[in-house]
Amino acid sequence: MGAALAALLALPLPGAAADAYPSRPIAMVVPFAAGGPTDVVARTLAASMSKTLGQSVVVENRLGAGGTVSAAYVAKAAPDGYTILIHHNGMATAPALYPRLPYHPLTDFSFVGQVADVPMTLLGRHDLPAANLAELVRYIRQNPGKVNLANAGLGAVSQLCGMLFQKAIGVELTAIPYQGTAPALTALLGSQVDILCDQTTQTLPHIKASRVRLYGVTTTARIQALPDAPTLAEGGLKGFEVKVWHGIYAPKGTPPAVIARLNGALRAALKDPAVAARLADLGAQIVPEDKQTPEGLRTWLQSEIEKWSPIIKAAGVKAD
Ligand code: MLT
Repeated sequence: MGAALAALLALPLPGAAADAYPSRPIAMVVPFAAGGPTDVVARTLAASMSKTLGQSVVVENRLGAGGTVSAAYVAKAAPDGYTILIHHNGMATAPALYPRLPYHPLTDFSFVGQVADVPMTLLGRHDLPAANLAELVRYIRQNPGKVNLANAGLGAVSQLCGMLFQKAIGVELTAIPYQGTAPALTALLGSQVDILCDQTTQTLPHIKASRVRLYGVTTTARIQALPDAPTLAEGGLKGFEVKVWHGIYAPKGTPPAVIARLNGALRAALKDPAVAARLADLGAQIVPEDKQTPEGLRTWLQSEIEKWSPIIKAAGVKAD
């Protein structure tokens, strides 16, 4: 063998690193508390993706600032496919909420794909003296300054939903922020807070066991998991709609072959009957296949930024 050929054979093949990927565990960063709705979706996916990838996908909860701490962390991580982010609508609302956001959702990430859509539910503590939405609105108006609303911080969907609710009824409530709706729901169950808007992925079992009051669902149509629950729009809040969507991201510059592996594992998870059954049980709806792609996530994120930015600016909500 000539020296030139031997030298050539000693070189790594193009794409060899990506072919070997993943050779160690992958961190899936979750921006909110363990046990909450984002965490539940993440852990369900991670278990199935681990099987396809032949490496553990380990959920890592990095809390703070309504999800922006996690997003900033992943934006700055090495673009090697070993640190990925799962996040929801907060990815689209953060630029309008945080004037000094240290990343841009569209330009600082590589996109893996969308996951599932989740309805929200407006809940009250079980002993709140209001049995339905009309009574809740009356109670809030009759008790100015008394009713509070828990959320998972500025940028959380619980905050977004609460902001729209306050706008719809024309009353400002006292916000009580937590680092996820898992602790917020615990506070609601213990009657330490009055109202919480949260995803069915966490709230369904508590609604079914009547541990909380349910005032309505946030989708435009009633949902299969709670067929008797009126929508908030039906209850009188015209046009009220919040649907939570989830996407998976990697740092910008992650090699296309690595993104393809992650996307393949995501799509396999969304076809896994155990994942489908678990998500359906929690009221989540797996997105159509065209949204499960990197481009499907990118175009959706862009449209969501365009949708929410003017609404947030008009509401005058902003981090200092
Ligand atoms: C939210 O309100 O954004 C979520 O419910 C956060 C979470 O997963 O706890």
